[in-house]
Amino acid sequence: EKGGHEYFMLKEIEEQPEALANTLRGHFESGRIILDEQRISDQDLRDVDKVFVVACGSAYHSGLVAKYAIEHWTRLPVEVELASEFRYRDPVLDRDTLVVAVSQSGETADTLEAVRHAREQKARVLAVCNTNGAQIPRESDAVLYTHAGPEIGVASTKAFLAQIAANYLVGLALAQARGTKYPDEVAREFAELEAMPAAVQKVLSTVEQTRDLGRRIADSRAVLFLGRHVGFPVALEGALKLKELAYMHAEGFAAGELKHGPIALIEDGLPVVVVMPSPKGRAVLHSKLVSNISEIQARGARTIVIAEEGDETVRPFADELIEVPAVPTLLQPLVSTVPLQVLAAEIARARGYDVDKPRNLAKSVTVE
Ligand code: M6R
Repeated sequence: EKGGHEYFMLKEIEEQPEALANTLRGHFESGRIILDEQRISDQDLRDVDKVFVVACGSAYHSGLVAKYAIEHWTRLPVEVELASEFRYRDPVLDRDTLVVAVSQSGETADTLEAVRHAREQKARVLAVCNTNGAQIPRESDAVLYTHAGPEIGVASTKAFLAQIAANYLVGLALAQARGTKYPDEVAREFAELEAMPAAVQKVLSTVEQTRDLGRRIADSRAVLFLGRHVGFPVALEGALKLKELAYMHAEGFAAGELKHGPIALIEDGLPVVVVMPSPKGRAVLHSKLVSNISEIQARGARTIVIAEEGDETVRPFADELIEVPAVPTLLQPLVSTVPLQVLAAEIARARGYDVDKPRNLAKSVTVE
C-alpha cells in the first residue's frame, strides 16, 4: 500500500530513516563491527590489499560514495566499477582482492557475472544485498544485508541510502581487521552513522518545499547537477533519477570539471542543482563551489543549491535554496540525496508520468 501517498516512491523516500536504522541494527556488538554471513576468515580480511566495488545504476553510485570513506579509513585502494564493464577488461584480481558486489535485488545479471568472474580469479567476494537468499549473496563469500524492506518503485531510494550505510560498515570492518582505526574510532564512526536516521528525518520536513520547486521547473528541457568529493556521486545519482523518471536530459558533473567543457552548456534559465559541501568541514572545496555557482549564475543558470543549514555565504548565489542538516562530510550523501529524489519524482509527476513504473525500465535487470 502507498500509505496515503500518490506514489510508492514518495512512501519509500519517507521510509529512509527506518531503512537506515534497520540496516545498521545489530552490526556493532561488544565493540566490534560484525557482518552477516562471513565465510572469509579474519586473517583473509586482514590480508586484503585492494578493494573493488562492482554494481550497476544507483548501486554503482553507492560504491562511488563509499570509495571516499573506505580509502580514508583503511588506506586500501578502492576501485569502483560498472559490473557490465568489469569482467570484459581483465581486471587484476587475486586472493588478496576483496570484491564488494552491491545489488538491491541480488539478481542483476551483470553484477552476478562479475561475482562469478571474481571468484574464478580467486578474489574474495562480499555481497551487499537487500534481498534475502538472492543469487548474488548465495554465490558470495560473505554477505551484508541492507534491511531497507521491499522497494516497489523502479527508482531506487531507500535501498540506495541503505547501500551507502552498508558499504560504510564494510569499510569499518576492514579498518577494524587491518587496525587502521582504533576500536574507539570505529565506535565513534558507527555512532555517527547511527545518528543519520534522525538527520534524514529532518530533511523529510522539506519535502513539500522541494515538491513545489519540482513543479515550478517541470517544463525545463534539461537539468545539470554539480558536486565535489562525496557530492559528485550524489550529483550523478540526482541526474540518474531525473532521467529515469522524468525522461529529461540530465547530467551530473564534478564541479571542478566545469571549465573543461560543461560550462558551455549553461544557458539562460537552465536549472543547475549544486550539492554544496559543508562550509566548516570542507572549507576549501566550499569556497571553490561558491565561485562555480556565481559563474554559472552570471551566465544565466537558475541555481538550485543544496546546502548545510546556516550556510550564509551561498545564499546570494542560490535562486533556490534547500537546506540539509550539518552532518560529518562522509555522511553528507545520506542527507543531500533525499531532495534530489523528491525533485525527480515530483518533476515526473508534474509531467504526467507514472513515477513508480517509468517507461522501458524493469525493477531488476536479469539479462545482460
Ligand atoms: O538490484 P540492483 O541494485 O542490482 O539494481 C541496479 C540498478 O539496476 C538500479 O540501481 C537502477 O539503476 C535503478 N532503477 C536506479 O534508480
